[in-house]
Amino acid sequence: MTLEFTTTPSENTATAEQLAGIFENPGFGRFFTDHMVTIDWTSDAGWFDARVEPYGPIAIDPAHAVLHYGQEIFEGLKAYRHADGSVWLFRPDQNAARLQRSAARMALPEVPAEAFIEACRRLVEIDEHWVPSGAEQSLYLRPFEFGNEVFLGVRAAESARFMVIASPVGAYFADGVKPVRIWLSEHHNRAGKGGTGAAKTGGNYASSLLPTQEAFANGCSQVLFLSSLGDGLIEELGGMNLVLVRGDGTLITPQSDTILDGVTRNSLLELAKSMGFKVEHRPVSIDEWREGVADGSITEAFACGTAAVITPINEIVSAGGSFGWPDSEPGKVTMQLRQALNDIQWGRAEDPFGWMVQV
Ligand code: COI
Repeated sequence: MTLEFTTTPSENTATAEQLAGIFENPGFGRFFTDHMVTIDWTSDAGWFDARVEPYGPIAIDPAHAVLHYGQEIFEGLKAYRHADGSVWLFRPDQNAARLQRSAARMALPEVPAEAFIEACRRLVEIDEHWVPSGAEQSLYLRPFEFGNEVFLGVRAAESARFMVIASPVGAYFADGVKPVRIWLSEHHNRAGKGGTGAAKTGGNYASSLLPTQEAFANGCSQVLFLSSLGDGLIEELGGMNLVLVRGDGTLITPQSDTILDGVTRNSLLELAKSMGFKVEHRPVSIDEWREGVADGSITEAFACGTAAVITPINEIVSAGGSFGWPDSEPGKVTMQLRQALNDIQWGRAEDPFGWMVQV
């Protein structure tokens, strides 16, 4: 069944002057566009009432399931303005599919992929003037879904809501592509075996907040989690995946069923293979990383995600000491891959994979 969307345009849209002020320094997730998309669901009716309407506060019942048991999932994807003014989404089908996988794990209803993509497309279309064109800038879309049944019993909600909001963004880290220091969390894990680590659900991010505070207190920008099994295997960062680079041109990224299946990471690895790099997707330990830095075989590392794009890492810090490449410039391979992916996203290079979808 195809969902029909209705549109109620905002009577209070941002002026060109307001937008110019925002685009001067959008930061990340601080400003929101004029509209939002909502689709409701009940177990009886399925998905209904798909609507584009003015952005604004929504009514929350104090007994909504999400407030008590965290039944929530989300996505992140971006719209890019190309030099000819056209606007493109990057692989929205991948985010639609991952939201469905997260929904299955969190006992939420699956949003049909075509409704997900249409919701994103319509929001970008109506708020097109919010897509910035400055260097490194894009419009970040945040689709999300939550249980909104008014009921305190612990079971899957019988009603849910899917929404999409959008925010013009620059670099996620305040210093742009400057290499970041990472705090190794030795007392907290992100997810346990059989848990929700592979789902993009708020709880995984909530559990990263305390270790992230620790990271900030230790002069780091992100936290790195190890497996909860005590085997020293690397999982992911607080809000992004991790890739190590060997001097022989091999990229290594942790394989684990408790981390997020990153769209940016998968795309980068596919792109890297087409550029002649070898890719290893396998368990990798913090000891392998430390020893690889010491013997010179591991030469670079970077964080990757929709928000982070590709951010070089130059130091891993823990209570017991640190290792890495302090004070180094961004790695050559890191920057080469970053450039290649960004060139496709901003339309400066051919898109041989068919990843970009015009709005
Ligand atoms: C993204 O990269 O889109 C994310 O979801 C990370 C975010 C939590 C900032």
